[in-house]
Amino acid sequence: APVKVTKICCIGAGYVGGPTCAVIALKCPHITVTIVDLNKARIDAWNSPDFSLPIYEPGLVDVVRQARGRNLFFSTDVDKGIEEADLIFVSVNTPTKKSGVGAGFAADLNYVELATRRIATVARSSKIVVEKSTVPCRTAESMRTILEANSKPNCRFDILSNPEFLAEGTAISDLLSPDRVLIGSLQSPEGIDACESLKEVYANWVPQERILTVGLWSSELSKLAANAMLAQRISSVNALSAICEATGANIDEVANAIGYDSRIGPKFLRASVGFGGSCFQKDILNLVYLSESLHLPEVAAYWRQVVEMNEYQKRRFSKRVVDTLFNTITGKRIAVLGFAFKADTGDTRESAAITLIKDFQSEKAFVNVYDPQVESEQIWMDLQEASPLMPLETIKKQVSICSSALEACKNAEAVVIATEWKEFKDIDWEAVYAGMNKPAFVFDGRLLVDAERLRKIGFRVTTIGRPSAVA
Ligand code: UDX
Ligand code: UDX
Ligand code: ADP
Repeated sequence: APVKVTKICCIGAGYVGGPTCAVIALKCPHITVTIVDLNKARIDAWNSPDFSLPIYEPGLVDVVRQARGRNLFFSTDVDKGIEEADLIFVSVNTPTKKSGVGAGFAADLNYVELATRRIATVARSSKIVVEKSTVPCRTAESMRTILEANSKPNCRFDILSNPEFLAEGTAISDLLSPDRVLIGSLQSPEGIDACESLKEVYANWVPQERILTVGLWSSELSKLAANAMLAQRISSVNALSAICEATGANIDEVANAIGYDSRIGPKFLRASVGFGGSCFQKDILNLVYLSESLHLPEVAAYWRQVVEMNEYQKRRFSKRVVDTLFNTITGKRIAVLGFAFKADTGDTRESAAITLIKDFQSEKAFVNVYDPQVESEQIWMDLQEASPLMPLETIKKQVSICSSALEACKNAEAVVIATEWKEFKDIDWEAVYAGMNKPAFVFDGRLLVDAERLRKIGFRVTTIGRPSAVA
């Protein structure tokens, strides 16, 4: 019979584990949820008395405020968390490998393996182990092998795959009313029981018909597939944006017309300077690697093109900036508004802004950056990582971090909108214009601002997916 879950442990207090398990705690007051992490600074931040949490996510503070200390706990005592739990989420990071076999494509599973081995070593009673991190197909199988090879007598491990589909910036609402919850298990009686136990946890707030139960491999592949298809839509619309710029069609109008087809649907068709985030590129590269290792080179090439189109879109945008500024930006000041990979998050992983700024740096421009959420430290770290051979001092001579959009735009030749923060729509554009060198240019990489209104103020506006106005 299925075990009734009363104690959950989540290994990894990051963007996925933190919000997910906080919401589980909120919705299941009868379950004790402990989130553990090796990173003490992170745990301290989750426990901070003034709720200055380590990640910014709208609504998260309210959830943590309600549940923390009641049935939600954050701790660095990983072993104790494992020992006490009936069900363990493994929600550790799975970055793309930087070296070794599959470097640049395959996921680095070292963190998953270490966490799994820790479970095997420490557990003294049976556990349901849930793979939450996005991982390549067959990881559950490896986890199972490790656990079974190391388990003690009377101690069984059942593995589930339960990928998380939340998007950053809307994590809490995504978790509170998910499109679906996906649970993969072995189709053995034990596997089905374990699946039932986890299903019961979600059933506390998710309607039954939205909880899908499938085989382990389908679950793992579905996560990669969902992200690959979402990213593919953006690359498709971005490829069309290049045609629009060259022909005089308008990508807004095209996307809108396409989206009315109920088979296509209106969402996720917003042309941009390129997708970012920790998932899309990583998961597609995983899929490419998987396809290649299965000897399916045509399939690999198909998915790889989605990432290549994204790289092209970023390059194309930087080039358009340079071309428009009379073919040189050497010594010119460019204000980059937004550094996060999308609005409503402080996360910068794979953000298009990083590539744009690097391009502007190599053209010897000066760059002023402003983002309402990203910490300066993070910006310096990302720019350093993008140019590993350049001393930070040199980078700092070219790039300045500003504390407001207005300040960033002062004395600049051009404003580049890299992230769709709502506040950029509402800045005092008249004041921005007054402070800039003339002619003053705006490059909207996010279809954010009202180009006509800005033109009336005097700006020369270039918008992604629209031809450059013959000014
Ligand atoms: C994504 C998936 O949406 C989520 O289901 C999965 O669990 C994790 O990966 P996330 O990366 O947090 O979530 O954000 P998402 O909203 O998907 O945006 C990803 C990138 O695509 C951002 O850079 C965003 O700006 C860009 N994007 C999104 C577009 O350029 N155009 C769009 O129409 C939508
Ligand atoms: C298509 C468009 O749907 C229509 O809007 C346009 O005006 C003309 O082109 P059509 O070619 O008549 O219409 O048929 P459609 O139903 O789109 O199918 C096209 C092909 O795709 C068929 O061979 C169909 O079997 C195949 N298909 C469709 C799939 O293989 N899988 C699917 O999920 C859907
Ligand atoms: P994600 O976006 O997938 O949530 P993050 O990098 O934000 O990824 O979070 C993953 C967290 O997992 C990090 O805080 C990291 O310290 C933690 N972690 C990694 N390995 C272990 C481990 N073996 N035990 C405990 N925590 C771990």
